[in-house]
Amino acid sequence: MTIKVTLIPGDGIGPEVSTAAQSVITASRAAIDWEVVEAGEACIAQYGTPLPEHVLETIRRNKVALKGPITTPVGKGFRSVNVALRQQLQLYANVRHLRNLPNVPSRYNDVDIVVVRENTEDLYAGIEHMVGQNAAESIKIITREASERIGRYGFELARREGRKRVTIVHKANIMKLSDGLFLESVRSVASDYPEIECDDRIVDAMCMNLVQIPEQFDVLVLPNLYGDIVSDLVAGLVGGLGVAPGANIGEIGAVFEAVHGSAPQIAGKNLANPLAMILSGVELLKFLGFVKEAQRVEKGIEYVLRQRDYITPDLGGEAGTKEMASAIIDAMI
Ligand code: NAI
Repeated sequence: MTIKVTLIPGDGIGPEVSTAAQSVITASRAAIDWEVVEAGEACIAQYGTPLPEHVLETIRRNKVALKGPITTPVGKGFRSVNVALRQQLQLYANVRHLRNLPNVPSRYNDVDIVVVRENTEDLYAGIEHMVGQNAAESIKIITREASERIGRYGFELARREGRKRVTIVHKANIMKLSDGLFLESVRSVASDYPEIECDDRIVDAMCMNLVQIPEQFDVLVLPNLYGDIVSDLVAGLVGGLGVAPGANIGEIGAVFEAVHGSAPQIAGKNLANPLAMILSGVELLKFLGFVKEAQRVEKGIEYVLRQRDYITPDLGGEAGTKEMASAIIDAMI
């Protein structure tokens, strides 16, 4: 059966890395039919918004999307498309699989961490107000329901992927009510997964541990703000933005996207590293149950990285986006 997937090419380097990812995924022989829709800067003139309703509609209908980075216009009153998508589609789990890849520059060797970030509440609920002229207040929302939901997502992922340990990250020693509730709620689901070790870390100690002994961690479950920061920290441990895939998962759909932005400085120059987008495509394949196809792509990537003849300048090579994607395809067959 062919599965329909929405593809949003995005802005800047988005179309280049999306085309690369689409061609690699198609070459994996996964039965996917792409529905390509524009979102971002190109839509503003025509629809008055970077995220027109028909784009949301196709994702609701197809339930799965691969999305290129989208430029957030500064100071023009438009909300970030990424935040809007997460809220509109209730994509409550932000998931990043971050591991060392061969020949991708990193100070570490054995990092293989999944960061599971709660995506809907915490300080990102956007409830802020001024208190008089000289003070501002931002409200941090943590609910038992959302915390248990992200905790269960983390443990289910650990079970599905045969991972051994889930670490809950918090600051419950200071924010005893809000972070205390997060910690208690995630812990409360741990007993349903007796085969998986569960422990916790205070977020500042977690950051130090990640820099000193990252190989000891497996799955991290965090509330929104700490998740935002720590997921970039872990991306940095394995070589940075060019190789960091991401997924936003909800009950009615999932949007897969690279962590990096639209990199306008290198757009249209065939210089962008397509790996993060291709790896996001690998996550999409696994999500849809195309396991063999995902492995095929992973093998192609591994070969190209080890061989080093067709890698982009950010990885120390001289190949273009297109050439790197073609080399991955050739190595898959
Ligand atoms: P950025 O990720 O676009 O760029 C940061 C640096 O990394 C730049 O030096 C860029 O050239 C480099 N870079 C990023 N991706 C690369 C790739 N695939 N290959 C090689 N080099 C790469 O972040 P920046 O500059 O803060 O944001 C630019 C625009 O992207 C902004 O409008 C921002 O709002 C948007 N953005 C969109 C995201 C999304 O749609 N998910 C996420 C982050 C930013």
